[in-house]
Amino acid sequence: MSTEQAVSKTYLHGGLLAAIEAALARMGKPISSLSIADLAPVDEFHIGGRVATERFMKQLNLNQDSQVLDVGCGLGGSARFVANAYQSQVTGIDLSREYIETGNTLCEWVKLKKQIALQHGSALDMPFDNDAFNRAYMLHVGMNIEDKTQIFTELYRVLRPGAILGIYDVMRQQQGDLTFPVPWATSPSTSYLATPDEYCQALSETGFELVNQSNRRDFAIEFFNQLGAKTQAKGGPPPLGLHTLMQESTSAKISNMIANIENNLIVPVELIAQKT
Ligand SMILES: C[S@@+](CC[C@H](N)C(=O)[O-])C[C@H]1O[C@@H](n2cnc3c(N)ncnc32)[C@H](O)[C@@H]1O
Repeated sequence: MSTEQAVSKTYLHGGLLAAIEAALARMGKPISSLSIADLAPVDEFHIGGRVATERFMKQLNLNQDSQVLDVGCGLGGSARFVANAYQSQVTGIDLSREYIETGNTLCEWVKLKKQIALQHGSALDMPFDNDAFNRAYMLHVGMNIEDKTQIFTELYRVLRPGAILGIYDVMRQQQGDLTFPVPWATSPSTSYLATPDEYCQALSETGFELVNQSNRRDFAIEFFNQLGAKTQAKGGPPPLGLHTLMQESTSAKISNMIANIENNLIVPVELIAQKT
């Protein structure tokens, strides 16, 4: 099995759309009047969810003229946020067919189909023309990609000169064995963490200039503390959440990720760069 097949298998649910529909029904949310906020608990698969997305996107200088690429878009929650908040056109690409098919249905449900196209494919060999986009971002995707130079070379190709690239990934802070499973990998065989310096070096080698770098460790710990307190106060998770995606492995994946952050092995980091 290739790495990409193994990564795609990690994220396979098998009945995701039906699970989301069932959770929405339990919440009493009719599909005819859904908002993107209703879907945010399940479709923002990165530390901090929608709150993290809002802050991150403010740094990309987005507007109605932005042609945005969402690399490793998952279910497309961030794409729907960008289309709705900034009126941008967004194209998403992801290895998981199930995420793309489910994500396109979610776009229909919230009436954003005209602004968003999600398609199946690899970020390492994208079916897009040179200079096709003027913004791109990847949220918690680089952890599954071994060759950072290759992904940034491909991003450089599809972006126009001056375009902004945003990255929000879990990065390696110190050497040491991680506890698995984590949300992006069940074992070390599909986990390819790099340090912020290694990301910056790969960006610079491929022609990007770093504009800003933010360590999101404190935010992550506070986010998980609040999530834990809310879950405890309510006697369990809400009907719709990241547990809808990760199912029975959710608790192990999240608690291992928190422990790996607290042990300074990994850290969520934002990088904003520009194509020179
Ligand atoms: C943790 S999820 C994040 C999804 C989305 N960015 C979000 O924040 O909600 C990681 C996603 O990256 C995708 N992915 C990993 N490697 C990829 C690759 N080489 N090409 C395209 N997508 C990839 C996975 O299929 C998965 O959907």
